[in-house]
Amino acid sequence: TPLKFVTLLGSLRKASYNGMVARTLPNVAPEGITIEALPSIGSVPLYDADIQQEEGFPADIEAIAEQIRQADGVIIVTPEYNYSVPGGLKNAIDWISRLPNQPLAGKPVLIQTSSMGPVGGARCQYHLRQILVFLDAMVMNKPEFMGGVIQSKVDEQTGEVVDQGTLDFLRGQLTAFADYTRRVSK
Ligand code: FNR
Repeated sequence: TPLKFVTLLGSLRKASYNGMVARTLPNVAPEGITIEALPSIGSVPLYDADIQQEEGFPADIEAIAEQIRQADGVIIVTPEYNYSVPGGLKNAIDWISRLPNQPLAGKPVLIQTSSMGPVGGARCQYHLRQILVFLDAMVMNKPEFMGGVIQSKVDEQTGEVVDQGTLDFLRGQLTAFADYTRRVSK
């Protein structure tokens, strides 16, 4: 059966390396897998229960949630900030977590981190996993993608990953995530 995944990007900047990874995923996706980008989280206000009560949820959060509901799985592609989850991504997750029928509950999730450093954002992955425990998401354990020294693996002109080893790994990981999604979804 065909599957649809959506990508949630943790970086806001135009030239984001994680954005390049996310942009590359449709090119390496196995047959029958479509991958679409979710709206940017860059305009989501800081979570404030008063905003939620007086104005409701931000339109971008509602749109992201609806697309997550319609997707078979979510791929979170993010940098590591100060050994943890970027504040903007945490903020978006905090908003999502307050939605009725919280859309990440029971949803297959894949985490991908990339960094200019050698560790590839590994430390962020475990903090993000911890957050997703409370949201009851079904985070795939392995294989893990930690894109170290990512600046050496992309073409800055096209804004895509070009390193063959990385492309092969990403394709393999997406294949594993598709298998995982089929296994854990009813
Ligand atoms: C970073 N960076 C970083 N890198 C890393 O490997 N571990 C870390 O803890 C941090 N911490 C950190 C904090 C803040 C506030 C910034 C702005 C950056 C570097 C980071 O990996 C690098 O800037 C990436 O290029 C950011 O990802 P995007 O925006 O290119 O996707």
